[in-house]
This record gives sequence, C-alpha cells and structure tokens, in this order.
Amino acid sequence: MDSILVTGNGELNGQIPIAGAKNACLTLMPATLLSEEPLTLTNAPRLSDIKTMTALLQSLGAEVSTLQDGQVIAMSSHDLTSHTADYDIVRKMRASNLVLGPMLARLGQAIVSLPGGCAIGARPMDLHIEGLEALGAEIELKDGYLHAVARGGLKGAVHEMRFASVGATENIVMAATLAKGTTVLKNAAREPEIVDLVDCLRKMGAQIAGEGTSTIEIQGVDRLHGATHQVVTDRIELGTYMLAPAICGGEVELLGGRLSLVGAFVEKLDAAGIDVEETAKGLKVRRRNGRVQAVDVTTEPFPGFPTDLQAQMMALLCTAEGTSVLEEKIFENRFMHAPELTRMGAHIDVQGGTATVTGVERLKGAPVMATDLRASVSLILAGLAAEGETVVSRVYHLDRGYEHVVRKLEGVGAKIERIKS
Ligand code: UD1
Repeated sequence: MDSILVTGNGELNGQIPIAGAKNACLTLMPATLLSEEPLTLTNAPRLSDIKTMTALLQSLGAEVSTLQDGQVIAMSSHDLTSHTADYDIVRKMRASNLVLGPMLARLGQAIVSLPGGCAIGARPMDLHIEGLEALGAEIELKDGYLHAVARGGLKGAVHEMRFASVGATENIVMAATLAKGTTVLKNAAREPEIVDLVDCLRKMGAQIAGEGTSTIEIQGVDRLHGATHQVVTDRIELGTYMLAPAICGGEVELLGGRLSLVGAFVEKLDAAGIDVEETAKGLKVRRRNGRVQAVDVTTEPFPGFPTDLQAQMMALLCTAEGTSVLEEKIFENRFMHAPELTRMGAHIDVQGGTATVTGVERLKGAPVMATDLRASVSLILAGLAAEGETVVSRVYHLDRGYEHVVRKLEGVGAKIERIKS
C-alpha cells in the first residue's frame, strides 16, 4: 500500500486548479440510466470512486468510456441488461445506491445491495426507501439486498423527508423525473451537487423547479433524452486546498473556486484570520499576520459548514491560538483523524460528537494512518505545517476523492512525495 511523505516546508505560493466535484459526478453518472440516449459529462474528476461507479454502470449494461485523460465521461444506457447492483461493488462505495431511483424509474424494478456501514457511521437508507415508497414503489429487504418494484410505474406524490439527506434527495428527484404526475419533495437537501444534478436533468428534458431550496417540484415526463453537461467545481477539494495557505502561510489562488460554493466555510476562515478574495479566475487565500485564531465550528447540511471539511478544519485549528470546539452533527463517528493528529502533538479531547481542540504553536511530524477520505487529507495538511517528516499510510482513501494531490501541492511549493510500496 502506498504512503505519502510530507515535510513541513514553510509558505505555499502559486495556483491550484480545482477539479469537477466527485459527489456531483457520482450522482450525474447514474442519471444516464434514465435515458436511452447518450449522456456526456465534461470536467469529470479522475478518481477511483468514479472508476467504481463506471464498473457499476457497466455491470448493468451501460456503455461507459472516458476521453481526454478521464475528464470526459461518455455514457449510453440504450440497452440495460441487468437491474442488480451487486454487493461486491456497492460495498466499496456507498454512492452506488444512487442507481436505485433511476433504475426503478426506467425499468420499474431494481435490486440494490444495502451498502452497510462505513468508517464514519451507520449510514442507513431508510430515507431513500421512504421517498421511493411515497412514489408507489414496493421495497423489501432480502438477503442484504433491497428489492424494489414499481407495479404500473411510479406516481408523483407529496413527500416530506425527516432529514435533508443528500443521497435520498438525489434518488427521489431522479426517480420522480419519469413518474406520472407531479412530485413535491419537502425538506429536500440544498447542496450545490443537487443543483448541478437538476441542471443536467433539465438538459435531458426533465421538468424541475426549486432546486437549491428545501422544496423541489418535479413534473414527470414520459422520457428523457441525451445531453452534455459540465460537472460543477468540487467545493470540498476547493475548501481543502484553501486550508493549505491558511495552515502554512503564503498566498494561493484556487482556480475555478467561487465564494457561493463555500460561504459558511469562508466565514469561519475569516474569523480565524484568513483572507479570501474572489478573483476573475477563482479564490485567492492568504493568512493575515500572526497566528490563526481559534473558532468554533458546527457541521450542518448546506448552506451550513460541510461535514466533509471538518477534518481539514480541525488540522488548521490544531495550531490556532486558543481553544476551538468542533461539533459534528451529520455523522456519528467522524473524529477518527483526532487520535492521528494527537500523534503529531495536537491537543484534542473528543466527547461524543464534540471535539475540543487547544491549539499548539507547532505540530511535529509522525507516522500516521488515514482512516477515511477526508481524514487522510487532513493529515497531509497537518504534515505540511508540522516540523519534520509525516508519513501518511493507507492513501487509497485519498485516491477516492483527490486527483493528483502530490502534483497540485508540489506546484505551490510543498515538499510532498508518494512512496510506492
Ligand atoms: C453525501 C456525500 C458525502 C457527505 C454527505 C453529507 C456523496 C456521494 N456523498 O453523502 O460526502 O458527507 O452527503 O453532506 O454525495 N441518513 C439516514 N438515512 C438515510 C440517508 C442518510 O439516516 O436514508 C443519515 C446518514 O447516516 C448521515 C446523514 O443522514 O448521518 C447524512 O447523510 P446523507 O446526506 O444522505 O449523505 P450521503 O448522501 O450518504
């Protein structure tokens, strides 16, 4: 298994290009199942999660090919040959469950393995099931698989979700595009990736209004057609690299970044003493003079502070002046980076969903282990600012969500290398 060696090396300066959003691409790809005509995505990120989704779609009979070094994904679901999403693929990546809604809508049936828990929490699918049942699907669990059928097709309905789940919103919206009549989804998630999905579905002929708000209205149509769509910028990759100059000093411009994608995060950076300026090309980030200041952070659904940036923010706050309290409200077990950061000299006390971080002057390099995708990159950020060498092992987690991490950070002056095992 490869590892990454980071050596604290002072300020970072220059530009980092930000890729298309992993989480948007992972919901845009299953949208191909809704139509017999081709769907092409541009600005796709080159990540192992995208390869997993490719394999899943191919296992269902879709044709998927990549062009332009992986940045263009051309898909056709003209002839689907299976409606079963196998455990062997689904267990690798929870987002595999996003084929459920589209398959049910297009084929009237779907068998999808339950993903099971993952390192950051139990992550059930009850909200997906409730929404699809509201549209008339009958769903039962057999042998670890959800067996869903829509006898006579899906029918539009008014449904209010108990919690604004991102994945459930995506599955329900996709399913409702081909349902008979109108669906009103209340307490829908508002994430930019959902807005991006709706943009694409609309290009495919779907009739949808209200995306980006808590109520999405979908008028079902008989069929969707082909389209070409550019994947939105990855706000989590953006936020992650915004933290690099925040932690190390210097000035870095994140190409393709927009304030509207990271509003709540930028407010916290500002309070910590980090300047963010929108430029013609993206976002420019610079640490004000002196030490970063402690800030309290609570993760929330969009437009609140994203859970997917909590680990990286903790890395910053480890060296802040004062004590910060981080509350994780989305996932029940998302502080596994804390003991690893502690190995680097951080002072962190975790009690349930709350982590109290008392800043130290400087972290010290150490061998540490990545436990999940965002935890792994938080350890790299910490290593960039630490004294001496940090070796982050189990970097396959990182490959799921960050393309060319070594090249991007080297480009702004970081001392970082991948060690092949
Ligand atoms: C998506 C993102 C993930 C991000 C998360 C929250 C993708 C591919 N992944 O995940 O990176 O961290 O949003 O912003 O887009 N829940 C239930 N029942 C359900 C569904 C969810 O209880 O049926 C719970 C989950 O266990 C979790 C919370 O709701 O505690 C949020 O989950 P959800 O918004 O569904 O996240 P994902 O779509 O899985």
